[in-house]
Amino acid sequence: MISTRLTEKLGIKHPIISAPMAFAAGGALASAVTRGGGLGLIGGGYGDAEWLAEQFDTAGDAPVGVGFITWSVQRSPELVTETLRRRPAAVMLSFGDPRAFADEIHAAGATLICQCQNLDHVRNAVTTGADVIVAQGSEAGGHGALRGTLSLVPEVADFLRRESPDTVLAAAGGIADGRGLAAALTLGADGVLMGTRLWASTEAQVHPSHHDAMLAADGDGTIRTRACDVVRGLPWSTDFTARIRRNTFTERWHGHEDELAESISTAGPDYGDAWAAGDIDNAGVFFGEAAGIIHEIEQAVMIIDRIVSQAEDVLRTSAARCN
Ligand SMILES: Cc1cc2nc3c(=O)[nH]c(=O)nc-3n(C[C@H](O)[C@H](O)[C@H](O)COP(=O)(O)O)c2cc1C
Repeated sequence: MISTRLTEKLGIKHPIISAPMAFAAGGALASAVTRGGGLGLIGGGYGDAEWLAEQFDTAGDAPVGVGFITWSVQRSPELVTETLRRRPAAVMLSFGDPRAFADEIHAAGATLICQCQNLDHVRNAVTTGADVIVAQGSEAGGHGALRGTLSLVPEVADFLRRESPDTVLAAAGGIADGRGLAAALTLGADGVLMGTRLWASTEAQVHPSHHDAMLAADGDGTIRTRACDVVRGLPWSTDFTARIRRNTFTERWHGHEDELAESISTAGPDYGDAWAAGDIDNAGVFFGEAAGIIHEIEQAVMIIDRIVSQAEDVLRTSAARCN
């Protein structure tokens, strides 16, 4: 057992949160993670209310949370209000200013988790009243920014110790095994948030061909790009890019986003068809650099159990080195 301020704050057994991954993290994954001793988050994605309601139904009695892409849910804020009626254990906000939602989330009794990519985001999240901050490094799958996990996490830990000692810290980006969990704790985090490792689980809603492509990839096989957002017509800030698998699509369009925007009438439907078909060459396959240390698609509970026991071994072995 690894007990931390995160396990205490969330009332969970293991200091592990699963990322609210758009499209992939439904009720099955979130409830499996919660039943496995962590906290599972349903991915609110780009705001499909009907899908979200189904996922809460699937999760059933398991206490799960939910995550929203902040700039997107700002366009339909009623979705936050509706979702809070499902009594989520926590609400995570990423990629945008969380201020507009903080009071409502707290009033509903949910823990507010803010995912941050730099110190400005952290300062704003603290002022907003975040209970948990996720410091997300650039290794992460999906959307993120520039800072690497290894220096961002201890810098945020130092900042919080000074400025907001009650705020709990989770590390994210490239963490997929017990070494990563042990490292995050050593860097001053109270736990981790994992995306890619739990995306590679039997409960995630992922096309089998995407799973196969990830298993065949190593950590060099991804790229941060805006092309997958431009082709979908998603108005992401240029502060954020998405880490996806390098493929025919990224070879053609990464760095040529203006041209892609001009070709949207054909490129958009082509991308949509490729995504629906599980075509790993002509649509975005979202996973992070941790792909290089993931070799199997497994049940979430097995992943969590192994990571925790490996982290315990790593921490004990490290401690034994210091005489
Ligand atoms: C497939 C995929 C989809 C993601 N979608 C979201 C999302 O909708 N909202 C969000 O806040 N983060 C999203 N993320 C980022 C995660 O919150 C998290 O920061 C990241 O997965 C951590 O790094 P890791 O993938 O190396 O574990 C996504 C990540 C992946 C892999």
